[in-house]
Amino acid sequence: MTQRRYLLDEDAIPRQWYNLAADLPSLPPPPLHPGTGDPVGPDDLIPLFPMALIMQEVASDRWIAIPDPVREIYSMWRPTPLYRALGLEKAPGTRSRIFYKYEGVSPSGSHKTNTSVPQAYYNAQEGVSRIATETGAGQWGSALAFACQFFDLEAKVYMVRASYDQKPYRRSMIRTWGGEVVASPSPDTAAGRAILEEHPDSTGSLGIAISEAVEDAATRNDTKYALGSVLNHVLLHQTIVGQEAKEQLALAGADPDVIIGCVGGGSNFAGLAFPFLADKAAGKDIRIIAAEPSACPTLTRGHYGYDFGDTAKMAPLLPMHTLGHGFVPPPIHSGGLRYHGMAPLVSHVVHTGLVEARAYDQSECFAEAVRFARSEGIIPAPEPSHALRAVAEEAARADEEGVERTILFNLCGHGNFDMAAYDAYLAGELVDAPLAQAELDAAAAELEGLPAL
Ligand SMILES: Cc1ncc(COP(=O)(O)O)c(C=O)c1O
Repeated sequence: MTQRRYLLDEDAIPRQWYNLAADLPSLPPPPLHPGTGDPVGPDDLIPLFPMALIMQEVASDRWIAIPDPVREIYSMWRPTPLYRALGLEKAPGTRSRIFYKYEGVSPSGSHKTNTSVPQAYYNAQEGVSRIATETGAGQWGSALAFACQFFDLEAKVYMVRASYDQKPYRRSMIRTWGGEVVASPSPDTAAGRAILEEHPDSTGSLGIAISEAVEDAATRNDTKYALGSVLNHVLLHQTIVGQEAKEQLALAGADPDVIIGCVGGGSNFAGLAFPFLADKAAGKDIRIIAAEPSACPTLTRGHYGYDFGDTAKMAPLLPMHTLGHGFVPPPIHSGGLRYHGMAPLVSHVVHTGLVEARAYDQSECFAEAVRFARSEGIIPAPEPSHALRAVAEEAARADEEGVERTILFNLCGHGNFDMAAYDAYLAGELVDAPLAQAELDAAAAELEGLPAL
């Protein structure tokens, strides 16, 4: 029998996070203060984040130690399995070898707990009692609620309206773990009220929900803000995924030629890819691909410059690919990929040519997700179905070229709470919404006057 699963002992849970900033030939410029336009210093971030996370945000050390209490909670589901996708390889009949790291085994069902646990830990260490956050797909909000309960923290989650309506059981999970969840835009904040006044039927966006959570944290002494992606410290926490994958591939005697992850804010992609990107930056021949939705094509069609991280312009200006802070993506089912911007570090490695980006329509992605469910058993979250589409493309390309490649991707979450999306696909009701150029131009117009890169 060909081995299917590559497993590591609990003792192999990484003891350090890997910081790509230490190994890149150049770094993105600093975030800027939304009011003054000056570079953001640690002091500016104190109202939002505990100092330990602020220091990780600006860290230049290659390795950062993972605290024992965080590793102890990680041990509930880590190390996660690496699978050889034997069924998927047979389904299209490729000669390539396909491996996937499966993060859906975490209690909340995705990679998001890799960062929610340390974020909750550092907040509790510094005496914070309540955390406000946004959630797109509900994956991050549920992961944060899960983590907060271990450290006696309250969690308030602003959940993008489109997902709030599509995914009622994500709300139930948040509440079961003791968190509070409201649909965003909400009447609970000035930012939410302003949007509701203008667009009472707003389906929301991550940009709007971030504005609400940032306002909540900035206006209460007991509360800090947590972000589920985009920022350096979040990407850092996810690098345990790629570190484990390296060890597991070594067990399989495999060396990846192509590495693929889907991108919303960039964290699951970075988590898998960054430990390998160090090797690529040092000259290793390896291709790394970020897959995004054509309805929110930040890396493939967005502008590369400074933009606000949120809609209400309260969050810092970040150097990134962006569709404009006011852009509200169509309500595609991959709620976690509906973000107007991108992690500065991911934008930087795309801009400098270390990473390729591709955009796909949701129906072609769901076709791959269904093929995966029928060949591998696991029902993928809609977000990683974009990675699956890129995997299919790469496998077909290798076959055409007559070569056998080793392809690794991140199956960053299961889709067990996304069945309404699968129902829509199977009923032939899924609508593709590739972004029209006019909409892209209109969204980019609001970037005029912001600092260029
Ligand atoms: C399952 C899943 N995958 C991917 C993403 C995209 O986020 P990121 O690009 O930060 O990994 C999300 C975000 O909510 C998600 O829930």
